Amino acid sequence: MSTANQNVNRPPTAVLLTNMGGPATLDDVHNFLHNLFSDRDLMQLPFQNYLSKFIAYRRTPKIKEQYAAIGGGSPILHWTRKQGQAMEKILDKIRPETAPHKHYIAFRYVEPYTSTALEQMKADGVERAVVFTQYPQYSCSTTGSSLNELYRGVSEMGMDKNVRWSIIDRWPTHPGFIEATAKKIEAKMAEYTPEERETALIMFSAHSLPMSVVNRGDPYPAEVAATVDHVMKRLDNKYPHRLCWQSQVGPMPWLGPQTVDAIRGLAAKGQKNVVVVPIAFTSDHIETLFELDHEYGKEAKELGISGWKRVDALNDDETFTQAMADIVKEHLDKNEVTSNQWPLRCPDCESDVCEETREFFTDNKS
Ligand code: FES
Repeated sequence: MSTANQNVNRPPTAVLLTNMGGPATLDDVHNFLHNLFSDRDLMQLPFQNYLSKFIAYRRTPKIKEQYAAIGGGSPILHWTRKQGQAMEKILDKIRPETAPHKHYIAFRYVEPYTSTALEQMKADGVERAVVFTQYPQYSCSTTGSSLNELYRGVSEMGMDKNVRWSIIDRWPTHPGFIEATAKKIEAKMAEYTPEERETALIMFSAHSLPMSVVNRGDPYPAEVAATVDHVMKRLDNKYPHRLCWQSQVGPMPWLGPQTVDAIRGLAAKGQKNVVVVPIAFTSDHIETLFELDHEYGKEAKELGISGWKRVDALNDDETFTQAMADIVKEHLDKNEVTSNQWPLRCPDCESDVCEETREFFTDNKS
């Protein structure tokens, strides 16, 4: 059998971690917002070239304040690097035949952009690449947008011929992910007294989506619910729970109940002990550190939810980084190109890019 040492002279097996990213400094906030509002895979606005600039300009001061309150920038690059480094070490041990493994990071709205990651992979002479979305549950607004961007970058840089690509496009119920999440919940529950725990409930909170995206047939709500179901089974359904949705923006209808509305409703019913679980991101970011901790946590306590607790993000948790390595190993072992869900477009999708991206990656079986 080959070993990691014997393979040392061959190009690394790339594991490309994709995510939206976040502004690392306050100076990056405007560009981040501009890129986000320009993304036509995420939202389609009239006169988007102009409107995206206007919205970014208008929202920058408020969003800068939020990032200032959490230390001056997003920690997502820091955590993604740590996760990637831990994962590649484990992978070299558990799958020596494809070692060495090297992680690359492709963020959608900030550096390192997809093009930066592709340049690094080209410089390393990569011939085999596994794209590994860092969103456990698939949405065309998140993973779909990153994959469309990747398809454009790969085509532009001529990396469609020399690299064999495959995609881990979702992993909402992977046992390692479920275990890592359940352990974090158990650790937070252990902070209550037995009496408090008796009356505690779990509030899972995931980023919401516009109803126009949900009604297009996006699988995200069902996959988040599947994660919740598996976590609750792992916890022997010991606690009552609800799934809520956070971070709505703009006047259009979004998937609910909104987390903040659920907090208000539960407080009005006398609920004292609530454990909120960020269930759709794997590292800390503005929605955990500012929205859940600063905004919602403050309001919850003011409304009488004295036992408000937020479950820690997975970050560099060892159970989780082991799960990341296991997910990649299982994907390589199965010689899978994508999940069987990914080729199926949303029933109401009208995007040509979604179709081209699927054709490209599902044909990439050399
Ligand atoms: Fe879902 Fe295009 S929007 S496949």
